[in-house]
Amino acid sequence: MKTATASAPSNIAFIKYWGAIDLDQVRPANASISMTLSECRSLTTVTFEPEVTSADEIALRDESGRPTTLSDAFRRGIERHLARIRERHQLVGRFSVITQNNFPAQAGLASSASGFAALAVAASSAANLEVDDIELSHLARISGSGSASRSVLGGFVEWPAGEDDASGYAKVLAPAEHWPLSDVIAIVETAGKEVSSRDGHRRAPSSPHFATRQALLPDRLDRVRAAIQERNLDDLGSVLELEAIELHLIAMSSQPAIFYWKPATLEVLAAVRRLRREGLSAWATMDAGANVHVICPSAQEAKVAEALAQVPGVLQVLRDRVGNGPQWHTDALP
Ligand code: PMV
Repeated sequence: MKTATASAPSNIAFIKYWGAIDLDQVRPANASISMTLSECRSLTTVTFEPEVTSADEIALRDESGRPTTLSDAFRRGIERHLARIRERHQLVGRFSVITQNNFPAQAGLASSASGFAALAVAASSAANLEVDDIELSHLARISGSGSASRSVLGGFVEWPAGEDDASGYAKVLAPAEHWPLSDVIAIVETAGKEVSSRDGHRRAPSSPHFATRQALLPDRLDRVRAAIQERNLDDLGSVLELEAIELHLIAMSSQPAIFYWKPATLEVLAAVRRLRREGLSAWATMDAGANVHVICPSAQEAKVAEALAQVPGVLQVLRDRVGNGPQWHTDALP
């Protein structure tokens, strides 16, 4: 029996994963590029008992460490992920999992990328699997949350649209030290999203704009890779804003349509344009939700956070920045 504890951060996509060629195997329709964060993390302790065949145990703690209720969907997601890890490595044994996010559950931030990345890292160590970064990326991907495959690495990360394991794993484009960027998150909604990203991926090809975006993506991916290499935030920012708008354009025009934005989302987008007119380099992106992530140089993080806190409808502002990926912890979650 072995216990391992690891944490993994969330990430924010500059080029979004939205639509899959194989949703069950989590093969994305397009490559995506993200920045791994530093502060918003999931911490997970996993114990593996070889040969024990009774059901896995799963427990959730709130951000202050107190036991909290596990939703059925959350439990099923973790059970499915553990079953897939067992199947992929032909393991026989029982996992016990305790997991906790350090960001408030009521902040409305998706925790699947950090949660499943932390689970992949801690579970593979508890089960004594010899895994490299490539296999860790696959282990995180088969959770069902494709973005988790990018959170096992630090810095600026690309997850290609590979059709098989030989190519479809995440790679570092540049380490965190390459470019000190921040992600200032304006929370405008605290409830979980009404339509899961899984349903969003499923519906995406029904939008008349899906194919157009796919055709534009090779050029956009090149621009983002070059902007990262050259540390050119004007180039990166213009593409990342376009990408966020198009993800939502596709969501809103899918069948059935999905509306993630709230009125305050538009208020924040207007505030970000205002900040640019005032000379700051602030650029907005959104995942499948109403909250707005504002990417800026870390030197401007405090000013951007102060300005976003004044925007009507903003409930809370979180400050995060590029980070180094998963970490080991010596203390197990009690
Ligand atoms: O990893 P999933 O299946 O939850 O999908 C992620 C979808 C977005 O967050 C909207 C985009 C992305 O690439 O992170």
